Amino acid sequence: MSPTPAEHVFVIFGGKGDLAERKLLPALADLARRGDLGDRYVILGVGRSEVSDEEYRSFGRAALEGVEHGGLTEHLAYHSTKQGGYEGLRQRIETIEAEAGLPGNRTFYLALPAGAFGPTIEGLGNAGLNEGPGFTRVVIEKPFGHDLPSAIALNATVHRYFTEEQVYRIDHYLGKETVQNLLVFRFGNTIFEDLWNRDRIESVAITVSESLGVEDRAAFYEQTGAIRDILQNHLIQVLALTAMEVPSAFNAEAVRQEKIKVLRSLRPIAPDDVVFGHYTAGEIDGKPVRGYLEEAGVPASSTTETFVAAKLSLESWRWQGVPFYVRTGKRLPQKLTEIAVSFRSPPVCMFESMGSCLLNSNLLTIRLQPREGFSLLIDVKVPGEPLALKRIPLSFRYDDTFGKLPDAYETLILDVLVGDQTLFVHSEEVEASWRLFDPLLSGQEAPLPYAAGTWGPPKANGHMHPGNYS
Ligand code: BG6
Repeated sequence: MSPTPAEHVFVIFGGKGDLAERKLLPALADLARRGDLGDRYVILGVGRSEVSDEEYRSFGRAALEGVEHGGLTEHLAYHSTKQGGYEGLRQRIETIEAEAGLPGNRTFYLALPAGAFGPTIEGLGNAGLNEGPGFTRVVIEKPFGHDLPSAIALNATVHRYFTEEQVYRIDHYLGKETVQNLLVFRFGNTIFEDLWNRDRIESVAITVSESLGVEDRAAFYEQTGAIRDILQNHLIQVLALTAMEVPSAFNAEAVRQEKIKVLRSLRPIAPDDVVFGHYTAGEIDGKPVRGYLEEAGVPASSTTETFVAAKLSLESWRWQGVPFYVRTGKRLPQKLTEIAVSFRSPPVCMFESMGSCLLNSNLLTIRLQPREGFSLLIDVKVPGEPLALKRIPLSFRYDDTFGKLPDAYETLILDVLVGDQTLFVHSEEVEASWRLFDPLLSGQEAPLPYAAGTWGPPKANGHMHPGNYS
């Protein structure tokens, strides 16, 4: 049973945008259907378009067509920033609260292009919307800055008006059930903790791959690339949860402090330990697809990376000498997010004299998506043979036991409404992560080509990544 949010106004900047339509309204609808939004709330879309409340409700009904939405569309309203700017917005919110008898709890969700975060924060602050009669929270989408200086500057703007306790920096990977389960897996099962270190683990490989290309987002992707889009945030957050020490409690402060320590212990990445790539024409699922440079809106001279693989290392007692291989890319053979933990091989090969030997180490694969679950590969004796070994998986699949998993945005929006920051990114995490990747971005070499439907440039396999497990 989730804690019920207080009566509130949920303001979506970019109310008619793609994120609101595809993710936020459906997530809010599911929360409403489950009764998790309470009875008294207003969702206020905000944007430049001049749209009436009724038109916004129609927009909501279209976005939620065929979805059981628990009456959410009746709670929708819209405000155009052309009506008196932020001052006009403040008056509108106060009027809504007075008419509906709401106590002044406000969430501002910035579903906006990254360039608009700073000015919106300033607008809210200057209009006195950074504090109100009840709670005031601000939710900021990724990317948080496009390099270290811009992230520091954005954090400074945010902190000029809001305290860190009011700020919810979203990384939607942290809302995925399986990412949270990583903590339960590691800290709810005592058998793993004793093995989770340099004595027992040979390497850790984290993959976030997508078979999709850039689709119609070339303008965004040209400014972003694989490091900024996935590695600096989603992937590094998964790494931090995999590598962190046991937090003293499952709360925001304890979990985030341990993640910050991991990010600060990552060593600078040597140029030889990173490979950039961009896809050329190839085949995905038997269908031909075009290369990145042929995508609509991508200049022929583009050097944006659509793939990056890197070997990371942590300076810590637990992980000294254990490589963390990370890779992410568009137009790879499949959509897959997984963590593969390779354990060390036995120190002595006991079965060699009998013509059989353990060549492989045990491998634990934690699948974050799709077909969420985990598998542990172990060797068993093949029955009847003198002594032949076979590797078999001990496995668990989420959908076999629990059915469909909730969407990450549902989890995260509910956390914002009940004031739980555990699954949100702290300002220091953002800066530590940029500190690691900034040197790569400035000294970046031209990407190497890889055919769509392959696992990146050949140079990125072999010593840069131990292999494909799925
Ligand atoms: C987004 C990136 O943050 O994550 C996209 O901007 C990417 O480029 C997406 O496709 C992947 O998210 P998921 O949840 O589908 O793995």
